[in-house]
Amino acid sequence: MRKFIIDTDTASDDAVALVMALQDPDIDVRAITVVAGNVPLSQALQNALYTVELCGKDAPVYSGCAKPILRELETAQDVHGADGMGDIGLPLAGRAPAPGHAVDVLRQVIREDAGDITLVTLGPLTNVALALLREPELAALVEHCYIMGGIGEGHGNVTPTAEFNIWADPEAAKIVFESGMKMTMVGWDISWKYATFDPGQAAEIRDIGSPLAHFVVDIQATLTEYAIESSHLAGFDLPDPITMAVAIDRGIATFRDFRVDVTTGDGLQRGITVVDVLGVTGRSPQMAVTTGVDRAAFVDMLKRSVSRPV
Ligand code: RIB
Ligand code: CA
Repeated sequence: MRKFIIDTDTASDDAVALVMALQDPDIDVRAITVVAGNVPLSQALQNALYTVELCGKDAPVYSGCAKPILRELETAQDVHGADGMGDIGLPLAGRAPAPGHAVDVLRQVIREDAGDITLVTLGPLTNVALALLREPELAALVEHCYIMGGIGEGHGNVTPTAEFNIWADPEAAKIVFESGMKMTMVGWDISWKYATFDPGQAAEIRDIGSPLAHFVVDIQATLTEYAIESSHLAGFDLPDPITMAVAIDRGIATFRDFRVDVTTGDGLQRGITVVDVLGVTGRSPQMAVTTGVDRAAFVDMLKRSVSRPV
């Protein structure tokens, strides 16, 4: 069994990534640590707890940071819905997280399973940055960290130059990117290129007919509108699930090693992932930047996850 920790700002695409991990018989989800981002922390917690319950699993869910390290929280409820899950009326309340703060749990579990933990981050990097600041030695104990965030090439989704997870807490991202962890970045370019689902492709998933198949499509209701109208895509895109797919099977993707730095300015200077493609900074690469994914393999993994009985 591979051991995963998943750090998430649970909204409609995060939830699908959680389903993929929770439904994989070869993955032991040791902890789900929740951070504010797409929605306020309290809502992200409920969304994660609901998703774990829907999968019939008992992976522990822990509450983490309610805001970025320095900046005010700016959510993406215009993208995912007020509840983050498409505002389709799901009962996303009343569930209790496991005791303990996410930052402490990250430290504890990474130490307990030193060298054997795959860390997958699906939201702003606030929790992970604070764990690394508190205990820098953790960086060497994580087998590999897969980061949904940044831009490998092309445009951003929250500004022309930045992707939401990095933009939301750029100081946290800078701390993580400079931590020395073994890291792979799955940028938002990978999502809109290989993980966009037009109505026909979405129906193909939903028509598998299981409760999880309906769930993973129906909660994209708000994201679908936003993706078509604002991101000018053919339908909703799934950045967190394609990141989870790469973490589950690295063989479906291609990568190039680059030095990647994060800007911490304001406006258009906020949260840019600066990829040193030509090596002009003279700083050695510290990030495997995802350059391509086998879409068919990703979709197959997604279909298998929602087809398995809970
Ligand atoms: O930019 C996309 C990322 O921001 C995804 O993780 C999405 O869930 C939001 O957190
Ligand atoms: Ca997310």
